[in-house]
Amino acid sequence: MTFMPKSPHAGLDRILTLELVRVTERAAVAAARLRGRGDEKAADQAAVDAMRSELNRLPIQGTVVIGEGERDEAPMLYIGEEVGVGEGPEVDIALDPLEGTTICAKNLPNSLAVIAIAERGSLLYAPDVYMEKIAVGPGYPEGIVNLDASAAENVENLAKAKGVPVSEITACILDRPRHARLIEEVRATGAAIRLIGDGDVAGVIHTTDPDNTGIDIYLGIGGAPEGVLAAAALRCIGGQMQGRLQLNTEEKVARAAKMGISDPNKVYRMEEMASGDVLFAATGVTDGNLLSGVKFARDSIQTHTIVMRSSSRTVREIKARHQDLEKF
Ligand code: FBP
Repeated sequence: MTFMPKSPHAGLDRILTLELVRVTERAAVAAARLRGRGDEKAADQAAVDAMRSELNRLPIQGTVVIGEGERDEAPMLYIGEEVGVGEGPEVDIALDPLEGTTICAKNLPNSLAVIAIAERGSLLYAPDVYMEKIAVGPGYPEGIVNLDASAAENVENLAKAKGVPVSEITACILDRPRHARLIEEVRATGAAIRLIGDGDVAGVIHTTDPDNTGIDIYLGIGGAPEGVLAAAALRCIGGQMQGRLQLNTEEKVARAAKMGISDPNKVYRMEEMASGDVLFAATGVTDGNLLSGVKFARDSIQTHTIVMRSSSRTVREIKARHQDLEKF
């Protein structure tokens, strides 16, 4: 009998996992040079330029499906842009070279450079609208979160499943006037809330490590592109997430329809936002609960990246010291 080695993975080439780290590292370093300068646009542009030039060295035929915006509003990394060397696997790419532009400009915690790569056709082609989101980390029974139930029910069910009183649950919510009622409802259950100024990709990822981050559940409305990125991350680490696009005008319904979305009220499960084999990488720009920000030393630059893959569920943390400073 011939021995057939078991394929180490299904889907994407595993080499890509580590190649991705360079992409987010470069973007994070470029943005970090502009931390705390009060200039969101400059920091974002620097991250976009750096991510794009690194992406174009990858051995892929990539198409940006979640990017900086549509072609006419984004000069680079726009939806539909082809990236990579043009040989290798055909992949779809979701990216946010600087997630949390304002937090970077103010030098506050948790801004990230983020990317997800997936087999062609396996990421939700979401328009740049808002999305209602709910997410928890791994270890809970299937169906523990449900966008059709009230926030209070979700928080109470989670406490029961975790085996703690509701007062020991913390929900992460974006600090926005649109969340006033949601905040009131969650507080009325006795749960605590971590209000964040920006950065809901980090907010969702934080639910996967509540012992370290103090966050059990993510709730509320943020960007749909960030929703797809967060779903890609959770597919790799484990957890549950649902998202519902906020298509509250005819123009948005029409834009979504052009991208293949026929039911404007559909609740998307995590697996529908990011299916197949998915790779995800994020490098800290500013210090955060899970990732340290970029550190500039006299003779090196240090970066901290998390990189993971859905088919193996491997989560790697890579702390790198870059000494060839000319590259940056
Ligand atoms: P940017 O990096 O594009 O500034 O997005 C930051 C962010 O906080 C996202 O994490 C979140 O999904 C979205 O903005 C929320 O949008 P808004 O600021 O309009 O409430």
